[in-house]
Amino acid sequence: MSNYHIKHLEEYYQVYRKSIREPENFWEEVAEEHFLWRKKWDKVLDWDFSKPEIKWFEGAKLNITENCIDRHLATRGDKTAILFEPNDPKEPSEHITYRQLHQRVNQFANVLKENGVKKGDRVCIYVPMIPELAISVLACARIGAIHSVVFAGFSSTALATRINDSGCKMVITADGSYRGKKTIDLKGIVDEALESCAVVETVLVAKRIHSEIKMKAGRDKWLQPLLDEASAECKAEVMDAEDPLFILYTSGSTGKPKGMVHTTAGYMVYTAYTFKNAFQYKENDVYWCTADIGWITGHSYIVYGPLANGATTVLFEGVPSYPDFGRFWEIVEKHKVNQFYTAPTAIRALAKQGTELIDKYDLSSLKVLGSVGEPINEEAWHWYNDNVGKKKSPIIDTWWQTETGGIMITPIPYVTPTKPTYASLPFIGIQPALMDENGDELKGNQVEGRLCIKFPWPSIARTIWGNHERYKETYFSAFANNYFTGDGALRDEVGYYRITGRVDDVIIVSGHNLGTAPIEDAINEHPAVAESAIVGFPHDVKGSALYGYVILKDAGESRNHDNLRKEINQIITEHIGPIAKLDKIQFSEGLPKTRSGKIMRRILRKIASNEIENLGDTSTLLNPEVVQNIIDNRL
Ligand code: PRX
Repeated sequence: MSNYHIKHLEEYYQVYRKSIREPENFWEEVAEEHFLWRKKWDKVLDWDFSKPEIKWFEGAKLNITENCIDRHLATRGDKTAILFEPNDPKEPSEHITYRQLHQRVNQFANVLKENGVKKGDRVCIYVPMIPELAISVLACARIGAIHSVVFAGFSSTALATRINDSGCKMVITADGSYRGKKTIDLKGIVDEALESCAVVETVLVAKRIHSEIKMKAGRDKWLQPLLDEASAECKAEVMDAEDPLFILYTSGSTGKPKGMVHTTAGYMVYTAYTFKNAFQYKENDVYWCTADIGWITGHSYIVYGPLANGATTVLFEGVPSYPDFGRFWEIVEKHKVNQFYTAPTAIRALAKQGTELIDKYDLSSLKVLGSVGEPINEEAWHWYNDNVGKKKSPIIDTWWQTETGGIMITPIPYVTPTKPTYASLPFIGIQPALMDENGDELKGNQVEGRLCIKFPWPSIARTIWGNHERYKETYFSAFANNYFTGDGALRDEVGYYRITGRVDDVIIVSGHNLGTAPIEDAINEHPAVAESAIVGFPHDVKGSALYGYVILKDAGESRNHDNLRKEINQIITEHIGPIAKLDKIQFSEGLPKTRSGKIMRRILRKIASNEIENLGDTSTLLNPEVVQNIIDNRL
């Protein structure tokens, strides 16, 4: 098929140039040749970044599940769609064929309908990495309900905030989840969250760990008996191209989480096209992305992108360290995985274990290695390349965001020569720009600035749920007529991009975006705390870890500081989740502030990273004297 599968560098440049010169023709061709439409579009693209308003394939009608499931039935009915690998290696894996997936999604969709869910309703999915997670996502899409998946490691408070923000009338969950040796009481967390969510009418509960849980009469229902009763035929709702497909929350530097809204047609076209090319996926390959479906990586590259291509996608319930650090490699060998997509934080954790557990397994099936979520440092890149890929599987360092829906900058394996720590070239259709502090574009190579995108691509998020103003303010106001990513980047002498990290107050810990404000708000709830500031500092496994500076109300607080530290982390766990816990907590007398009262995080960041020689001018601070005190007491 023309343009659909790029096979060499010259072809990349050729297709790339076409996608930039004639974006509408280019995407129209991709859309036309590869997908199932109930009705084709009237217009390929309509956009205005100043409003901002972006519409792709306007007037088209479709259902994404017909593209991900139904149209494969004739040729791939018996092919494995989802390969479920449980937490416990002794439990058998489950192969769900496209035909079975069709039945299970339809049954689930009928259960949703019977429980009052209609097109446009929001459904919160708080389910661990078991087949019901992918199936419930697809079931929502089948009937046009908008799914809002919340990562099942978030706390009850974080869950409640997300349910209320998007007004979900239903929550889908499980009795509990397995995580290595541990079990987690998911239903208990949901019960707690729902104490402050009056909007929720129904809770569907999947059985996973067979724990004793409370079921609230009239609200909570076991899922399986309903599925058993449901018909395996459910007509797909016909959706408009720009109807919302899902909401997914991401942290901002301030305020509450942002519910990014992705719509149907553009998201489908872009995730499918990027999946095919970025992973060089071929029929009969087994593809595995280790992310959780609770994040965008899982939405786009466990569920929608792979299934739209009729691929076999592995869904792994467990963790890389259970029963030992060889688990990933055991799974690669067992299922003969061809494409393996993970995060730098996992690579660093595994690298710490040496290579003994790698050498035990046959990894010769691997053809492509992917990395996502944060910059991959040189050491981790080489370890991955040498030991996992045996220097024969290209590493694709894929840069993108919840907001972008799909991969934006990446090498195409076997096409783009790789360079450690560089995400390399823009993907087809993507027009990056680097800006200086004055908002002028830096032209040419060997420049470094703020990373923007100049032109819309099909899977850009269209708005923030319920707050279009914030969408405009966050992404389209820093640089006129550009989407601003929040990241810094450099472009080297040949035009390769290297992402240098966030330029705002978002800190990426183990690949998870964390805003400083919500964590500080949580800490400040501790009765002994007057004020706090969070910064990131380098960590050899997590990439960045969190360092908190905490001012106590009573400087002479007699209580044990270690106990206070535990209590502070406990509050953070309750408000956000364990991923946001602080590695270091320093109790200090004050925080360096500008004369207008703004905390100078730049200074705190340097002190936390032990770079105290080069703090810059501190004399203009409101309170320069606190700086020495903080340095003297740093951890
Ligand atoms: O800072 C960039 C970093 O992760 C941010 C987006 O996070 P999230 O919305 O959670 O999506 C993560 C998965 C797509 C970006 O703004 N990031 C993501 N991938 C990379 C990266 N930084 C460097 N290199 C990457 N490959």
